[in-house]
Amino acid sequence: MTARFPVARPRRLRTTPAMRRLVAETRVRPEDLVLPMFVKEGIDSPNPIGSMPGVYQHTRESLRKSAHEAVAAGVGGIMLFGIPESKDERGSSADDPEGIVQLALRDLASDLGDDTVLMTDLCLDEYTSHGHCGLLTDTGGVDNDATLERYGSIAVAQAAAGVAVVAPSGMMDGQVGAIRTALDRAGYTDVAILSYAAKYASAFYGPFRDAAECAPQFGDRSSYQQDPANALEALREVELDLAEGADMVMVKPGLAYLDIVAKVAESVRVPVSAYQVSGEYAMVEAAARNGWLERERAIVETLTSYRRAGARQILTYWATEAAGLLR
Ligand code: PBG
Repeated sequence: MTARFPVARPRRLRTTPAMRRLVAETRVRPEDLVLPMFVKEGIDSPNPIGSMPGVYQHTRESLRKSAHEAVAAGVGGIMLFGIPESKDERGSSADDPEGIVQLALRDLASDLGDDTVLMTDLCLDEYTSHGHCGLLTDTGGVDNDATLERYGSIAVAQAAAGVAVVAPSGMMDGQVGAIRTALDRAGYTDVAILSYAAKYASAFYGPFRDAAECAPQFGDRSSYQQDPANALEALREVELDLAEGADMVMVKPGLAYLDIVAKVAESVRVPVSAYQVSGEYAMVEAAARNGWLERERAIVETLTSYRRAGARQILTYWATEAAGLLR
C-alpha cells in the first residue's frame, strides 16, 4: 500500500523569492504613502521629538528640505501640522493668514508645485490653550456648532495658502458639511476633503501630543472621538461624512483597527486612508532599539497589512524611508 501524500501543496508557490514575488497579492507603492510633518513657529533649528526618534518639529527651512527629500523618494503626499508660538481659547492663529501652517503651505506650494499633494490637518487642538479640538462652552464641554464656524474659516485660510486637501480631524458632527460650504462659498471648489471619518479615542496618540504640544489641559477627547468598542458607529460616521461631501475617508489609528479599515473599504466607493499613528511608530522604534525585532521588516510588514486590509493611502512617519525600502 502506498502512502497517501497531499495533492494540494501551497508550499509550491513559496519556493523562491521570484515565485513569491510573482504571486504576491499585495504591494505597497511609495506613492501610497503620505508623510505627516510638524512645523513649529519661532524656533531656529529643528527639535527632535523624544518619543518619536527620527521625527522633528521643523523650522520653515528644515520643513522645505525634508519635504523635498520625501517627494524625491516618491512619497505621494504630505500632511502638515502647525505648532504656533502662542495659543489662546479660540485657536486664533489657526486661520491667521500669517499663521505658521499658512506660511509653511505657501513655501511648499511654491517649492513643490504639482509634484506632490499638499494636505493639512484641520483641527484646533494644536492652537487652543486648553488643548481641545474645539471651542469650549461655559461649563467646559466642547461646543460643536460654534466649532464648525471656526473649522470653516480655517479651511478657507488653508485653501488660500495653497492646500490641495484639507483633513478635518476634530470629530465634530457636521464638520465636513460646514467645511465644504465654507470652501465653496469662498470659491475653493477644487479643494478636496479627506475626513478623519472614523477616529477613535486612542492611547496610541501618546507621542503625538509631545510632537504637536496639544495634550488636553483637562479631561480627554472621549466625548468627541469614538469608543474603541464600536464598529457600526464607524460605518455610520463614514456614511455621514460622504453624504456631507467628503472626497476620501480615513480610519485612525490603523494597526489596532484594521478590521475597521477592511469594513470601510468594502462599504464605500471612495479612496480609504489609514493613519499609522505616533504610538505605532514609537512601539516599533522602541522595540528595535532594544534589539527585540527587525525594524525594517516590521515597517514593511505593517504597511503591507494596511494595504491588504484595504487602505489605499497610508499616513506614516516612516514614509520617506519606507518609500526607499519599497522601491
Ligand atoms: C488632532 C490629531 C491628533 C492626531 C492627528 N490629529 C491627536 C488627537 O486626536 O488626540 C494624532 C496623530 C498621531 O498620533 O500620530 N489634531
